[in-house]
Amino acid sequence: MTSTNKPVALVTGAAGGIGRATALNLSRTHTVILVDRDQNQLEKSANLISEAGGSPAAFVADVTDLNSMQGVVRDGEAFLGPISAAIACAGIEVQGSVLDLTLEEWNRSLAVNLTGSFVTAKTTMKSLIASNGTFTAIASDAGTNGAQGYSAYVAAKHGVVGLIRCLALDFGPAGVRSNVICPGFVETPMARRLFAQSSEDEVQFYKSSVPLGRFAKPEEIAETVRHFVESTYANGNVYAIDGGATAGYFVGEPFQQTHVAS
Ligand SMILES: NC(=O)c1ccc[n+]([C@@H]2O[C@H](COP(=O)([O-])OP(=O)(O)OC[C@H]3O[C@@H](n4cnc5c(N)ncnc54)[C@H](O)[C@@H]3O)[C@@H](O)[C@H]2O)c1
Repeated sequence: MTSTNKPVALVTGAAGGIGRATALNLSRTHTVILVDRDQNQLEKSANLISEAGGSPAAFVADVTDLNSMQGVVRDGEAFLGPISAAIACAGIEVQGSVLDLTLEEWNRSLAVNLTGSFVTAKTTMKSLIASNGTFTAIASDAGTNGAQGYSAYVAAKHGVVGLIRCLALDFGPAGVRSNVICPGFVETPMARRLFAQSSEDEVQFYKSSVPLGRFAKPEEIAETVRHFVESTYANGNVYAIDGGATAGYFVGEPFQQTHVAS
C-alpha cells in the first residue's frame, strides 16, 4: 500500500494504446507505475491519470534491459510502496515471412515481445510473492493462432503464452496469480500502423472475420486486465478477447433460424 492507501500496479507499454487505457483504468483503484521507452507519450499518459485524480510515477525504460527494469522497480517501490500487480503490455509489431525477415527483425520481436515479458516478471516476482499479487501479460490472438506474414510476432506471442503458463505453475503455490490476455485487433497506434500498410480489402477481411463485426477498443482490453488483477482464483488462463474471431470458422452470413421451438 502507498501513503494514499492504494495498492501499487506497474504497467509496461503505458504510453501506448492498451497500456495507457489499462493504466488509466487501474488508477481508479491503484497507484500506477508507468513504464515505456517513449517519453513524450508516457508524459501524456501520466498527465491523463493526474487529471483523473491519480498520482502516477512514470519511468522511461526499455523492457528488454534487465538493469533498467530493476532500477524502475527499486525506485518505484521506494517512492510508492510494494508492487502487487504487474502488467506486461509493451510490444512491437513485426511483419514478414521467414524469407522476408532479417535476423535483426526476428531477434527484435523476440526481445521486446517475449524477453520483455520475462524481464518484467523477473523484476517484479519477488514483490508479487510478498503481496500475494498478480501478473498479467498481453499476448495476442497470435499467441494461440498462426497469422500469415507474421512469423516473428506469432512465435514471440506463443512464447508469452508458454511463459505465463509456467509462471502460473511456478508461483501459484506462493499465492501469485498469472494470466495472459489474447486480444484480436484493437484500435491503437499499433493497429493503425499495420492497417496503414495494408490494403482496404485486407482490413475488411480482418473485420469481417470478427463475429461482433468490429475491432476492440483499448478500454475493453483494460477492463479485462482489471478482471484478472481483481480475481482471487484465476490462474494460468489464456483468455481470448477478440469478438469471437478465434472461436471457429466464420463465414460472415447472418444466422438463419430454421427451427423454432413450439
Ligand atoms: N493493437 C492490437 O491490435 C493488438 C492486438 C493484440 C495484441 N496486442 C498487444 O498489445 C500490446 C500493446 O499494444 P498496443 O496496440 O497498445 O500498441 P502501441 O504501439 O500503441 O503501444 C505499445 C507500447 O509499447 C512500447 N514499447 C515498445 N517497445 C518497448 C520497449 N522495448 N520498452 C518499453 N516500451 C516499449 C511503445 O513505446 C508503445 O508505447 C502489445 O504487446 C501488442 O503486441 C495489440
